[in-house]
Amino acid sequence: LTENVHLRLLSAKDLTDGSFLQVLGELTTVGEPDSLALLERYNYLAARKDTYFPYVVITADATGEVIIGTATLFIERKFIHGCGLVGHIEDVVVSSKARGGGYGKLILKCLLDVAKHAGCYKVILDCDESNVPFYEKCGLVKKGVQMALYY
Ligand SMILES: CC(C)(COP(=O)(O)OP(=O)(O)OC[C@H]1O[C@@H](n2cnc3c(N)ncnc32)[C@H](O)[C@@H]1OP(=O)(O)O)[C@@H](O)C(=O)NCCC(=O)NCCS
Repeated sequence: LTENVHLRLLSAKDLTDGSFLQVLGELTTVGEPDSLALLERYNYLAARKDTYFPYVVITADATGEVIIGTATLFIERKFIHGCGLVGHIEDVVVSSKARGGGYGKLILKCLLDVAKHAGCYKVILDCDESNVPFYEKCGLVKKGVQMALYY
């Protein structure tokens, strides 16, 4: 993304060493998954990298890497629209220490590019009203309403 800021796929190591879960915890409740549950989930996703996978934004220098943000692209395979593909962007968060530095926009733009190159005919996401201006700056437009049922 820039000289010291990079985007890459999540690695298994990030689940134990990195600040990935800490950053996700700034978005919502992560809970307390044990290392086996984390590894099982990672392996499930890693076998489906073309469908659902988290990306992480890292800063990297001589002292190592720090995760400063993440977002996930889920590519849904439809029957409609000629067996078309729809991209869903999920779990977008930038560490509070790094907000306002353009990292959120960069990760969104990258995931939108990945979705386009994968052949998605559209990308959709759900968000709070307070984040509408951010997503508009990333090129998205407001469309439809979100429905939910929590168990
Ligand atoms: C939303 C979030 C990911 C934005 O990340 P960020 O790195 O701070 O955003 P950026 O610095 O890339 O901002 C890009 C542009 O959007 C604007 N912007 C960002 N958040 C905004 C907001 N809430 N309201 C209005 N504008 C906003 C910025 O001013 C910037 O404008 P510019 O391009 O004209 O300079 C970050 O604030 C965050 O993690 N929030 C908490 C978790 C969350 O709500 N995630 C979204 C779940 S749907």
